[in-house]
Amino acid sequence: MTNRHRLTSVETVEDEGAWLFTVRDAHDTNQEVMLVPCEETGVTAWVNNCTHEDQRLYRDEIGVVTRDGGIVCPKHGSIFDSCSGGCENGPAADTTLLSVDVTVDDGSVYLTDDAVDFLWKGGDSSDDDDSGPSSTSHLTF
Ligand code: FES
Repeated sequence: MTNRHRLTSVETVEDEGAWLFTVRDAHDTNQEVMLVPCEETGVTAWVNNCTHEDQRLYRDEIGVVTRDGGIVCPKHGSIFDSCSGGCENGPAADTTLLSVDVTVDDGSVYLTDDAVDFLWKGGDSSDDDDSGPSSTSHLTF
């Protein structure tokens, strides 16, 4: 059976610029995931971690910084395409953010990724230190 959990609305993601939630992955580890607006699909979902180093992209105090339709890494400035997750610049060039499956239906965003379970809205409270390394960075979906 497909996991289908309503997360929020497309309008909320567009208004707020991003929307953070936490899932438990197949390795029983918590992962932060961010929804960001995408003109092509309405919304996309990416694991909240840069592909270059262990760095959160969505930070509690500022949210996600975007430029030219891309997500800017706050550490070294690589920009990831909000729709494809791909990066073509800076130290994270030629990498792609880890994606999580979501579906937009009638203005609502649903988590539809069978590899993860929704835990809560917002970041992982057990790992909310923005300055230090994350214990979840090496896991894949
Ligand atoms: S940590 Fe993101 S570009 Fe270096």
